[in-house]
Parts: sequence; C-alpha cells; structure tokens
Amino acid sequence: MDRSFYRFIQGSLADHVATLAAQRENFFIVDSNLALAHPEAISAIPAARSLSLPPGEINKNIVTLQTLLDALREAKVSRRARLIGIGGGVTTDLVGLLGSLYFRGIEVAYVPTTMLAMVDAAIGGKVAVNHPRQKNLIGAFYHPVGVDLVLAATATQLTRDHYGAYGEIIKMAMVDQTDFFRRLEEVHVSELRDLRWIEEVVHHCVLSKLRLLGDNCFERDLSRELNFGHSIAHPVEDITGFSLSHGEAVAVGIAVATRVARQRSFVSDGEEYRINALLAKFGLPQRPPVATVQHIRNHLERLILQRGGDTLHYVVPVGLGRVKVCDDISPSEVSEAARQLASEKSPA
Ligand SMILES: NC(=O)c1ccc[n+]([C@@H]2O[C@H](COP(=O)([O-])OP(=O)(O)OC[C@H]3O[C@@H](n4cnc5c(N)ncnc54)[C@H](O)[C@@H]3O)[C@@H](O)[C@H]2O)c1
Repeated sequence: MDRSFYRFIQGSLADHVATLAAQRENFFIVDSNLALAHPEAISAIPAARSLSLPPGEINKNIVTLQTLLDALREAKVSRRARLIGIGGGVTTDLVGLLGSLYFRGIEVAYVPTTMLAMVDAAIGGKVAVNHPRQKNLIGAFYHPVGVDLVLAATATQLTRDHYGAYGEIIKMAMVDQTDFFRRLEEVHVSELRDLRWIEEVVHHCVLSKLRLLGDNCFERDLSRELNFGHSIAHPVEDITGFSLSHGEAVAVGIAVATRVARQRSFVSDGEEYRINALLAKFGLPQRPPVATVQHIRNHLERLILQRGGDTLHYVVPVGLGRVKVCDDISPSEVSEAARQLASEKSPA
C-alpha cells in the first residue's frame, strides 16, 4: 500500500477544505456534527456539491446508504467525480462503501476528523455499513485515493469520543512490537490534546497499521494480529445497541483476551495489571457489561461458522506489545473469562 496516500496537514480544517473545494471534481459528504463544530470550514463548500450525513453508528446502515445513492443521482454527480468524506470512522466507512457502489466505483478520499478515524478507520481499505443484527456485515474492500490528516480538526471532539480512540491505540501498542506501550504509560493526560502528541500517536499508528497490513491489504487472512480485541468488541457493540463506542468495546475485548492469556500464563499478573491500568488511564472500560456476557459464547460460535473454519483464531497477548494467534482457544473459554471479569468489582 502506498504511504504517500496519507498526508499530514498542519494548517486549519477551514484552509484545507477551501483548497479541496476549489477542485470542481470533488463532491463532499460531511458528518452533520462536524459541520456544526466547524461551520467556517464547511461554508467553503458550494451547497450543490455537498451532502450532509446524519451522525453516529446508528446511521451507519443501508437506509442511509440508499438515501445517499439517491441524492448523488439527483445531484447528477458524474462518474468522474471524487467523493470526499469529512467526518469520523462512521463517515469514512460509509463514504468508502458508497464510492465503491456508485457507477460501480468512483474515486473516494477522506478527511478524517476524529482520533479514531485518523489512527485506524480511514487507514486500509475496509468499508462497511451495519446490518440491523450484525455490525459491518455489508461491506467491501475499497481503497481511497488519498487520506488527509488535518490534526487540528480533533480539537472539537467530545472528551469521551477522543479518549475512546485509545481503545484502538492501545490495541496497536499491544500488537506492534515497539515500545509504544511504554510511551502511552508515560504520557500525562494533560498532554492528550496537544497537537504534538496527537501527531506522534497518529503517525505511529498509521505507519504501524500499514506495516502490519503489508501485502495483506485486503485482509483476507482472518487470523491476523490486528483483530486483537475485536472478536468481543463487535458483539458487545451489537448487544449494547452501541451504548459503548467502538473504541470502548475494543477496550473490553482487550481486557477479556488479557484475562484468557493470564489464565494460560501467557502474561503475568503484573502485565495484566499494567494493561488494565492503561485502559483505565484513558477512561476505558476493563470489563464487559453484565448483560452482554450470556451472549458472547453464541456470537463467537457464529463467528467460527461465518469464517467457514473450525477455530476462532483468537488473538491473545504474550507480553506488553506482543500478541499471538491461538487456534486452541474455544468460545466457552473466552466466554468464561468474560463472565469472571464481569462479576469482579471495579477497582475503587
Ligand atoms: N474500516 C476500518 O478499518 C475501521 C477501523 C476501526 C473503526 N472503524 C469504524 O469507525 C467507526 C467509529 O469511528 P469514530 O469513533 O470516529 O465514530 P464517529 O464517526 O461516529 O464519530 C464520533 C462522533 O464524533 C462526531 N464528530 C466527528 N468529527 C468531529 C469533530 N472533529 N468534532 C466534533 N465532533 C465530531 C461524530 O458526529 C460522532 O458523533 C465505527 O463504525 C467502526 O466500526 C472502521
């Protein structure tokens, strides 16, 4: 995958959007919360060349996709146009899929505006919307022609959304075999909104994700390390009706996988403590909501069937910054670890 597709933009979102709006082939799909938070940026886009996207995971579905397809046709957007998605991971996932379908595929580019979209969702080629009963069931692999990382756009994010991204950031620190885990331990929470820190984190995560995807940019290899935390995250999001954000659900998945690993002595008590302490530092949950536990085993069994195999390929930590894919961990072992964690009291 070409790293030059990913550009760091140092100026303001308004300046960058104005530059993009000057190119007549660009047609914009903009998250409506982002438009409210950055009216000066969005005002540069001619109304005839933009559509608004209702916000949130709840709108990442086929109904919104159909509405946008209708609107693109109505606006006479040509097959030579380029769609620019401006918003968080919901926007980049939706706009990518939209672009892959309209006229059998037109160019798409992203201006991710959340930490989570910058460090993960806008990177790589996975795009999707949710089925009413299953997250990301309807999707494709479709690569953007460019991803412009305007770090300053994150300034208006709500604290919970901003911190939620650390579910994916800690996942990356757990899988990428660098000392990034220690760096996250060292940073003081007062620095988290500092642009220099944001740039360090985004830069690290983008390069790590591209390196880990390598030749596997279509992610056909279902046993890959980047799945760490996700076997549990997706069902937790589905079961809770998205009351936990994606990053928070990944944090739950990390905690459960760490408990499985500790019980198998892949990590020590001390390492489990440090992983949970790092999740806590960013306000992330360290145990599954009680109501989800009874459903986890069924979800994991269905996952095995959907992948057409006979094992979960469950990813567990074997140290701080190292994971491995285990083929002998069963849904009941994972579900038991989740049940045990859910019944524990939160530390005071
Ligand atoms: N394709 C992938 O590889 C991949 C990887 C990870 C996550 N994802 C997907 O990403 C999504 C989560 O992304 P997210 O956390 O960015 O969620 P999101 O897009 O819902 O954004 C979170 C909230 O922030 C608002 N927002 C966006 N930018 C803002 C800004 N600059 N200021 C103020 N508010 C702003 C949004 O309207 C929303 O309310 C999930 O659907 C997840 O499945 C995809």
